Amino acid sequence: MSTGTLRKNELIYEGKAKKVFATEHPDLIIQEFKDDATAFNAQKKGQIRNKGVINNELSAHLFEYLETFGVRTHFVEKISEREMICKKLDIIRIEVVMRNVAAGSLVKRFGMREGTELPIPVAELYYKNDALGDPLMNDEHAVVLNLATLEEVTLLKQTAWKINAILREYFLSKGLKLVDFKLEFGRHDGLILVGDEISPDTCRLWDLETNKKLDKDRFRFDLGDVEEAYLEVRNRLLGSPANA
Ligand code: TMP
Ligand code: ASP
Repeated sequence: MSTGTLRKNELIYEGKAKKVFATEHPDLIIQEFKDDATAFNAQKKGQIRNKGVINNELSAHLFEYLETFGVRTHFVEKISEREMICKKLDIIRIEVVMRNVAAGSLVKRFGMREGTELPIPVAELYYKNDALGDPLMNDEHAVVLNLATLEEVTLLKQTAWKINAILREYFLSKGLKLVDFKLEFGRHDGLILVGDEISPDTCRLWDLETNKKLDKDRFRFDLGDVEEAYLEVRNRLLGSPANA
């Protein structure tokens, strides 16, 4: 599809980290990445310099990489530093979290020790609902809440497992441990596509040697070197800007 001359129309949605614009093409939107950062259901707010540029680059790269393995995503084309064209999705209000190592809410909820390698990956479902604080739920909850059919929930989890296997290996090759990450999905033209973004905002990534956190946890918990962490991930995946 030719997207070269696509015009950006009205703002249709503004989220915490991105803006979504309509285009003249009814099936396509433009997703614009902001430097704004929030945590703990927007109780903490701030900015991370250049985050929007880096997350746009990283998401485009990771979506393209996943597509080469047959994973269908909403990504169409990166068109500027902060913008990408995506297929318009009817968003499924389920967040799928995949975990390989104990961290974050898993540690809080079950009292596990942070850094413990999980014997098998764990898929979790959260109800995407800010007013309720995105509660954890199971497959049947998702069905009775009318978010998806049982078959669709199964497909989301299978896709998340597949993405985890692909990305875990990929990050490992870049000296990064994929601790956990969150995926969103949506319906488009009878298919379910991966949506949103895949970036240090939505993944926990630790340096393989030192376990240094190179993701949004540096912002969440005021660990310092936030911008540097995002840049480090970017440079490991895409090369330093001089030779990018
Ligand atoms: P959690 O340990 O806080 O449940 O987070 C699990 C993963 O999901 C982690 O990689 C960060 C990501 N995540 C988001 O992308 N958005 C969110 O709103 C939350 C709470 C987590
Ligand atoms: N993005 C989420 C928020 O502010 C939470 C997080 O990523 O920790 O609400």
